[in-house]
Amino acid sequence: MSFTRRQVLGGIAGLAVVGLGAGGARLWLARPQVTAEHDYELIAAPMDLELVPGHKTPALLYGNRFPGFEIRARQGDWLRVRFTNKLDQPTTIHWHGIRLPIEMDGVPYISQPPVQPGQSFVYLFKTPDAGSYWYHPHLMSSEQLGRGLVGPLIIDEREPSGFSHEKILCLKTWHVDEQGAFTAFSVPREAAREGTRGSLSTINGEHVPVIELPAGQVTRVRILNIDNTVTYRLNLPGSEAKIYAIDGHPVEPRDLDEQYWIGPGMRLELAIRGPAEGQELSLRDGVVRLGTVRGVAPLQGGSAEWPPALPHNPVSEPDLDKAETIDFKFEWVGAMTDYSKGQATPSLWQINGVAWQGGEEHKHNAPPLAKLELGKSYIFTLRNLTQYQHPIHLHGMTFKVLASNRRKIIPYYSDTYLLGKNESAKVALVADNPGLWMFHCHVIDHMETGLMGTIAVGDAWCG
Ligand code: C2O
Ligand code: CU
Ligand code: CU
Repeated sequence: MSFTRRQVLGGIAGLAVVGLGAGGARLWLARPQVTAEHDYELIAAPMDLELVPGHKTPALLYGNRFPGFEIRARQGDWLRVRFTNKLDQPTTIHWHGIRLPIEMDGVPYISQPPVQPGQSFVYLFKTPDAGSYWYHPHLMSSEQLGRGLVGPLIIDEREPSGFSHEKILCLKTWHVDEQGAFTAFSVPREAAREGTRGSLSTINGEHVPVIELPAGQVTRVRILNIDNTVTYRLNLPGSEAKIYAIDGHPVEPRDLDEQYWIGPGMRLELAIRGPAEGQELSLRDGVVRLGTVRGVAPLQGGSAEWPPALPHNPVSEPDLDKAETIDFKFEWVGAMTDYSKGQATPSLWQINGVAWQGGEEHKHNAPPLAKLELGKSYIFTLRNLTQYQHPIHLHGMTFKVLASNRRKIIPYYSDTYLLGKNESAKVALVADNPGLWMFHCHVIDHMETGLMGTIAVGDAWCG
């Protein structure tokens, strides 16, 4: 593992086409000839973790650690990650929430061939938006994410943000038993309901850890839900805390007053004023303690002031008057009979009457759920016709959340909207990034049992 920062020496070179998939989807191989400003070498490999004291868990990790190696770049800069797969199965890396070219999106068969064991792939892209993001495979996801292939990706603002220090808290509830052995990552009976939950809650890989914050000073706390299934109902009773950004994008700072529901894939950036030295608060999921926040000696250069709002990211503003509306219905099908047809995974969920087939073996010849014209504005109506909530995630573009029939929305930008039971919501976007983009529920076993599709922008689909 190495981390170096270098100066840019040149521009990006062309990308070589290496093959055409059955449905016209292109497979690309990147051949970067740029020395990126933020240059990483990242390895995915098996390694034992001690999650349950005295026991080993056979994890899969990025950079020999959990959470995966922290990748950081500065907004607007080139980021290069030279990735090597030392697993015994194929994989890819998807950069969740980053607006990037389709060739770098890490979706097997659609944006690149899977990275086979022993092989490498160079990811190279610019990072237009500051904020908290993360990375994970997009192949055999319930197992690969479940075993630990998840890591933070932090994009720093171009100018100092006003925060003097920060902490990253990665939430994951592991599918392990009392001996640290893995239990099933997906059970059909659970996949058909809220998704298969793990049993051991952790923050940064530790069960109910102590999180130290300098007393009286304000710390930027980036909370990342990198779990497969769990929506945490975050609360921090007795704290002085404000929300500064949601899912990577800044909001007008406001108090974290009650519970904040953070679904799989979602992020929340808080400013927290540390409690007095020796005092403790409880960071909770509903009434369950996830971690203990403890006030410690103030840091040099720390500040007690709330920083100003973070600067906005350069996301295009949708033109709501001219926007075309597209409806998406998320439905439960409920028949597990596909097993009898010899399918490896049951088909349980549908978007607009279509279930993504074959688990995650991406059928690139399946038509997209919608075809968007490049540069045009769209409103998506998201309708949940099921009794379970779904964090609905879109690759490649950021949408503006406009309204819901269930809660008051202060419009904000996001890549994942937590759609509650029977909720209808409206989000809008400018279709400004050409490609075939995945659109799916981020409860991993919902996505693997049908709740996924694609959205084509521009001429990405010619079927
Ligand atoms: Cu975290 Cu397809 O996404
Ligand atoms: Cu994503
Ligand atoms: Cu779901």
